[in-house]
Amino acid sequence: MSIHSEVKRVTTHTLQKMKAAGEKISMITAYDYSFAGIFDEAGIDIILVGDSAANVMVGHETTLPITLDQMIFMAGSVVRGARRAFVVCDLPFGSYQGNSKEALNSSIRIMKESGAHAVKLEGGVEIADSIKRIVDAGIPVMGHLGLTPQSIYKFGTYTVRAKEEAEAEQLIKNANLVQEAGAFALVLEKIPAALGKQVAEEVSIPVIGIGAGMHVDGQVLVMHDLLGITKDFSPRFLRRYADLRTDVLNATQQYIRDVRSRDFPNAKEQY
Ligand code: KIV
Repeated sequence: MSIHSEVKRVTTHTLQKMKAAGEKISMITAYDYSFAGIFDEAGIDIILVGDSAANVMVGHETTLPITLDQMIFMAGSVVRGARRAFVVCDLPFGSYQGNSKEALNSSIRIMKESGAHAVKLEGGVEIADSIKRIVDAGIPVMGHLGLTPQSIYKFGTYTVRAKEEAEAEQLIKNANLVQEAGAFALVLEKIPAALGKQVAEEVSIPVIGIGAGMHVDGQVLVMHDLLGITKDFSPRFLRRYADLRTDVLNATQQYIRDVRSRDFPNAKEQY
């Protein structure tokens, strides 16, 4: 019997049941095997291999430059670290916007080459046919509306989205379209809490928020933000649960001091 068979994997069905039961869903990003293993052991429900990797792993200013090959590499590492969590991988910018066939081909590559359990796409009406085509091929799709970082140059800012009535109405329409196209869940990023509540009540699929208030069905944060690794990023929605940046800085400085002073390695730390 494989060790993996002892743990019951979270599925889209589990997530749907959690929404129905009013149980909140926890989601976090990860990009490698080691952190994925820790988050999985902690009991996280969903691990997102987000294209935020472009920022926090690769050092780009926006999410646009990350490639499909890079996402597949990271998703494969995360999948190997996660025994229970449901692993979702972002389709990066340029890998799905062309047409639904391109979207399907990119999704198939992610599923085959990384072993991820689902893909995530940003957008509403403009990608509804792609969502349908991917879902028809048996691949679960998570939608993403509100602040969509892949369109940053269209909007020009990372401010709160859908504050005005017309934009809020459009978002509600898009949420319904994403659901009708077959998505199993939806991420809402940086929108008013009242709108997050309205969408979560209107659609039957789980709605996961990042800066979408307390009434949605679950929450997601980027691991580097939650763990206090990033600095100079303090949106109102972010709660930091650790100060790893300081811990790592202190540990590294102590290590340097110990090497320089010949304290490390000592007699017990050698062969
Ligand atoms: O790329 C990412 O990390 C995301 C989350 C912010 C939802 O899309």
